Amino acid sequence: MAAASAIQAAPIDLIIDTDPGADDLVALFLAMASPDELKIRAITTVAGNVRLEKTARNARLAREWAGREDVPVYAGAGRPLVRAPIYAAEVHGEEGVTGVEVHEPKQPLASGNAVQYLVDTLGAAPPHSVTLAMLGPQTNLALALIQRPEIAQGIKEVVVMGGAHFNGGNITPVAEFNLYADPHAAAVVLASGVPLTYLPLDVTHKLLTSEARLKQLAGVNTQASKRVVDILNAYITHDMALYGMPGGPVHDASVIAYLLRPQQFSGRRIHMSIDTREGPTFGQTVADWYGVLKQPANVMWVEEGDAQGLFDLLSERLARLK
Ligand code: BDR
Ligand code: CA
Repeated sequence: MAAASAIQAAPIDLIIDTDPGADDLVALFLAMASPDELKIRAITTVAGNVRLEKTARNARLAREWAGREDVPVYAGAGRPLVRAPIYAAEVHGEEGVTGVEVHEPKQPLASGNAVQYLVDTLGAAPPHSVTLAMLGPQTNLALALIQRPEIAQGIKEVVVMGGAHFNGGNITPVAEFNLYADPHAAAVVLASGVPLTYLPLDVTHKLLTSEARLKQLAGVNTQASKRVVDILNAYITHDMALYGMPGGPVHDASVIAYLLRPQQFSGRRIHMSIDTREGPTFGQTVADWYGVLKQPANVMWVEEGDAQGLFDLLSERLARLK
């Protein structure tokens, strides 16, 4: 019989690009509590839900709360490639998170810019070896790919929280926030030809909190689970009121759950394009789910996921943190 270490899959070599953001923080907790499966090389931050100073501060807070100060945090782009910056303080609060107190974390940012970090790291990585979890606007990766297109060879997969198809958008009737906040960046990443997986609102709006699931998380009874419950209780009210849903989505945590438990998700390889023209469809992802355009597939588009599976996984992992 093979030794256990020989049959265990190698951890995913991962960079998390993020704009925390309440759901980003939950995603970071989930990722940092999963060291056996995820080797997090770094967290890179971008302006998105709030300004860059605050997303970078919140990412440092997440690693402090998770006891993972070994993970470097780099700050990157402070504004989108072309469009005027937009933020989502009405959803995430002025600090980028509500329901918990924020403070200046003990450990500083890593020196150097996130874009240069991506250029250097992906450029030096073995071919097709590094996975990127993109939890905010894709500005950092787009800038890195513009600076040195050949770094695409170091990427194994880019897993994006973004886009919307069947049920429309959350920032305009057709656009999802991360794509609307920097559609030109998302278009650069798409055009680079890197293997792409999209988790759009179509799936994240199916993976909802419920009273029972929040109780389940609270029952874990660690500092981390208490923080997650406090963050979620404050965060979900906006979407529950807007959509009349019985619970709220935890969008970005779905990306990490997908990396940890891909068998709990399903979708199709399809052709997708992004509208970067000014006008009512700015930032829309045009997902050719039925293949009517007869274009080659350029993304894996995830439509379904196991909602209880996500909360079981989150509970199990939060029990591992303090
Ligand atoms: C996405 O937008 C942000 O507000 C969230 O953090 C998530 O990444 C959902 O549309
Ligand atoms: Ca986000």
